[in-house]
Amino acid sequence: MKLSELQTPAILLHTATLHRNLQVYQQACNAHGKQLWPMVKTHKSTALAQLQQQAGAAGFLCGTLDECEALCAAGMKTLMYAYPAAGPVACERVVRLAQQCDFYVRIDTLEGARQLNEAAAAAGVRVQYTIILDCGLHRFGLPAEKILPFAHQLQQFDALEFAGISTHCGHVYAEPDADKVPLYAQQELAAVHRAVDELRGAGFAVRLVTSGATPTFQYTVADEYINVYHPGNYVFNDCIQLANRTAQPQDCALTVYATVISAPAPGLLICDAGAKCLGLDQGAHGNSAVQGHGRVAGHPELLVTSLSEEVGKLRVEGKTDVKVGDRIQIIPNHACSSANLTEYYILVDEQDKVGGAVRVDIRGNATCKGLEL
Ligand SMILES: Cc1ncc(COP(=O)(O)O)c(C=O)c1O
Repeated sequence: MKLSELQTPAILLHTATLHRNLQVYQQACNAHGKQLWPMVKTHKSTALAQLQQQAGAAGFLCGTLDECEALCAAGMKTLMYAYPAAGPVACERVVRLAQQCDFYVRIDTLEGARQLNEAAAAAGVRVQYTIILDCGLHRFGLPAEKILPFAHQLQQFDALEFAGISTHCGHVYAEPDADKVPLYAQQELAAVHRAVDELRGAGFAVRLVTSGATPTFQYTVADEYINVYHPGNYVFNDCIQLANRTAQPQDCALTVYATVISAPAPGLLICDAGAKCLGLDQGAHGNSAVQGHGRVAGHPELLVTSLSEEVGKLRVEGKTDVKVGDRIQIIPNHACSSANLTEYYILVDEQDKVGGAVRVDIRGNATCKGLEL
């Protein structure tokens, strides 16, 4: 099937670009003797995780316990849950995962640790954890100077096993000046170095030093402290990565394929892809350098200025040869959000031949299992 025969809107995955992205990040890790445990929430697909594994990924970081369970069931046995687990339902799921694979959870509060310890002790299991280091995102975790005292406090929990520290430099996404990205990487490394030096100085065996965000990856991959990297968005790239100059348009593997369906006024086109394909966000943490709601590949004169649920407005700046009935490909602002809005990725090769469809199979809420009517 040719691309032109597809119904629109469709989320396209350009396989040559995808494979190149997987290789580039994997080879950088290999060159520095590092492990790549990519963040799965970007693509939420077992098939793509398998491709990452074939490329050399040694483990995975998951954004939900559903992702952890799905990958574990698919045979991927080194897994980390990116966020703290709290409450009996989540703690019991973590304990079950710890019984089934080499599993790590992250901790940043004593109360969370107490709850997890209780669930683990009840099941007679030891749960491995890393402490979340806050390197500037101010979401989870403790600043570097508070990591050692917290590690000491966690030693009271017999059913929990300290494995190391984890951080994520997500605040880089709010930076509108691409020249400043290396400064965020420096901040990330300074926090990691201080925390690890203090832990090791106090006799802690810090096995895992894990970090990662696509924009800072290239500036941190050679670091001698971090041994596991967790970029996620690198598989797709998007307008956010173009804005912070982490990627070029030819590195963007995911596009939203749309048809121009109306031209209601001079300088205005309407396409059949809206917020339900492109998403409304300007990246994980908002970024004033990102204009509109996506970039039309090969058409710098078109800007996606606003979105309704199923349709999008394109402003024409100057002249364009795009007319009603034409197909366009839009690079979304945030590919992770677009991926979460589709049932399937349509695989497309360099000759625009459709190679099949891959299910985005880990989007749902596992709680529905057994409840379906
Ligand atoms: C904790 C954590 N680590 C890693 C990542 C991957 O970051 P990125 O998609 O920027 O590569 C994320 C993404 O939000 C995250 O929340």
